[in-house]
Amino acid sequence: MELSDQRPEVAGRLKSGPEEARKRWFLDHYESVPREIEQFLAGTGIDFRGKRVVDLGCGDGSIALGVMNKFKPADLLGLELEHVDVEYLAQRAKKFLGIELPGGLRFGTCEPESIPVANAMSDLVMSWSVFEHVANPVVVMQEIHRILRPGGLMFLQIWPLYHSQRGSHLWNWYPDGWEHLQKSSNELRTEFIEKFELDEALQKEMLVDYDSLNRITVDQLQKAILASGLIIRRVELQSDLIDVPESLNHLSLNDLTTSGIKILAQRK
Ligand SMILES: C[S@@+](CC[C@H](N)C(=O)[O-])C[C@H]1O[C@@H](n2cnc3c(N)ncnc32)[C@H](O)[C@@H]1O
Repeated sequence: MELSDQRPEVAGRLKSGPEEARKRWFLDHYESVPREIEQFLAGTGIDFRGKRVVDLGCGDGSIALGVMNKFKPADLLGLELEHVDVEYLAQRAKKFLGIELPGGLRFGTCEPESIPVANAMSDLVMSWSVFEHVANPVVVMQEIHRILRPGGLMFLQIWPLYHSQRGSHLWNWYPDGWEHLQKSSNELRTEFIEKFELDEALQKEMLVDYDSLNRITVDQLQKAILASGLIIRRVELQSDLIDVPESLNHLSLNDLTTSGIKILAQRK
């Protein structure tokens, strides 16, 4: 089954990946993600200009760069658990777009359960494809609440949600999907390693992705947001037409069909 927002070939996320794949990966993050954010926020009147934005779990920084250039916040702080290779980001910006990194775009590291930003110092916290990997979503949501000023906004996106067809994040290798709901984690890990003779770096990246999945559902995400004190303002669910394997008939149809979510919340 074709998926409308399937992300580009994952080899493009590796510095050692083929240049064409790296370019597609970079441009998808730089252009398509900000466009999706713009579409989701349409009609809200939300304007990033002059705002202090945090991109939590910014990955390689390409989305942060795209958001910075498209929406022109005053500053944007991209945070990751490990150092972002800013030099590599700058190289790709130069090579694929012919631009320099803008002033106001900064990167730093954070801890899994703490964000190094003072209370109420952010106008907007965004997080793209991160919350399905966060070990303790309730605590991180409380951190987001803490760093937002009153009235400040949080935008987050998750795709694919764990219980949906591509929820393993291994869709490049399992085009039919559902493998993670039909095999134990150990079986799937072993099969993935043995069956697909991947480049070592790519295998490591994919297994880190898979192992970090917290299996959060839409309902659990809602609870985490509300528990932090944030108010939910807008939601978009992505629901897919699926052929339900008989072995999965007992699982929640809401979970099986809901492959993604975008959500806007606000600090009171
Ligand atoms: C699938 S990647 C997405 C990266 C980037 N947002 C993107 O879309 O390209 C998920 C990222 O979430 C980060 N992450 C996981 N838990 C986190 C936490 N508690 N705080 C900040 N980042 C976290 C991981 O380090 C990883 O880089």
